Amino acid sequence: MTALVLRGRVLSFLSEPAGVTDRGSYRYIEDGAVRIEGGLIKAVGDWGDVETADAEIADHRPHLLLPGFIDTHAHYPQMQVIASWGAKLLDWLENYTFPEETKFADYAHGRRIAGRFFDELTRHGTTTAVAYCTVHPDSAEAFFDEAAARNLRMIGGKVLMDRNAPEALRDTPQSAYDDSKALIEKWHGAGRALYAVTPRFAITSTPAQMEMAEALMAAHPDCYLQTHLSENDAEIALTARLYPEARDYLDVYERYGLAGPRSLFGHAIHLSDRERGAMAETGSVAVFCPTSNLFLGSGLYDEAGLRERGVRRAIATDVGGGTNYSMLRTMDEGYKVLQLRNQNLDPLRAFYWSTLGNAEALQLADRIGTLDAGSEADIVVLNCRATPAMALRMDTVETLAEELFVLQTLGDDRSVMETYVAGDAAKTGIDGGDKRQSRR
Ligand code: GUN
Ligand code: ZN
Repeated sequence: MTALVLRGRVLSFLSEPAGVTDRGSYRYIEDGAVRIEGGLIKAVGDWGDVETADAEIADHRPHLLLPGFIDTHAHYPQMQVIASWGAKLLDWLENYTFPEETKFADYAHGRRIAGRFFDELTRHGTTTAVAYCTVHPDSAEAFFDEAAARNLRMIGGKVLMDRNAPEALRDTPQSAYDDSKALIEKWHGAGRALYAVTPRFAITSTPAQMEMAEALMAAHPDCYLQTHLSENDAEIALTARLYPEARDYLDVYERYGLAGPRSLFGHAIHLSDRERGAMAETGSVAVFCPTSNLFLGSGLYDEAGLRERGVRRAIATDVGGGTNYSMLRTMDEGYKVLQLRNQNLDPLRAFYWSTLGNAEALQLADRIGTLDAGSEADIVVLNCRATPAMALRMDTVETLAEELFVLQTLGDDRSVMETYVAGDAAKTGIDGGDKRQSRR
């Protein structure tokens, strides 16, 4: 087994930065090295201090080496739904998303799109995603098969939906339970795969199906739970009609034991004070999906309010309601959403959020989201001068925080020079592959 040593400017977070001058919240090594063996980080330090004699060297100077980005909420079957115009959430689901998701009854279609999804994530520097599949168990098989073939750390789950959806997209409480259970037994903890029990949202699950989700989580408490919460006004009103006994939207999930530290609630925009308190008490995660919230006109996430209340938070693309695979683009739109609320997302906090912060939200910080020795070697190489406009702007940049803000505001897949997946260079393979194809 050959060791690999990456050379570059190493940046990895240690805790949530209190502001751009919080030097204690990250480790930055100007001429740094990361030594990788067997897919794991074995050592990190100054170039002169890390063993290189027996290793292959990849010299990425002057670029930054960071932990691979983590996307905590995405829908892989919506790759061909992105850029569907003129609708808000419920119409968008009915007119664009549900028809598209029927195609995933076919394993071959799911496998092809899962491949394209992982290509895009890799091209954009994202090494872990938490993804919704569709109602079809084969859509999850395709997702996990393709992730395993690429050795990616991926979290996914078959969607549960037994009402308010086309016939071809409906399961039943029992089939949802049986199919999810079989998938959990096959995939949860197999290689780098982890499973998320996935009731789509309150509108598409009957109380009987919510009970099945509860039973699945009770039997498999180390699985994740992913769903949507309080995204849009019409959705909230319909949820209240469907669950009249619930105090509010979150209470629908709480009644079935579905709020907890492994629970990821997409959007979580229009929450009452009671809901915020209950999110904090249960350790639930409120997932910010800025490009989606803007595109679907859903609303402005209250990051500061949630933080003050002690609610755990994550950030995500929500592709294909979200409009970009890039966590850099996501941070940029997140910054703008928070500006509209008179809140701030400084660049240190943004990069923390997309790496260690999201890993902490997933309780996976011992494996991903850092460049600490012992972590899995999922690493992104970022070029802050990737375009002429970025290079020009960089001429006047003096601090690391300013440089990160250039990446966050102007960067995209062109800034991602390489993406290492468990120590293997994965992006050049994909982009090289594209070039070979276009020459034919
Ligand atoms: N709520 C229920 N399903 C979805 C979905 O696919 N995307 C978004 N953005 N919200 C949802
Ligand atoms: Zn979503």
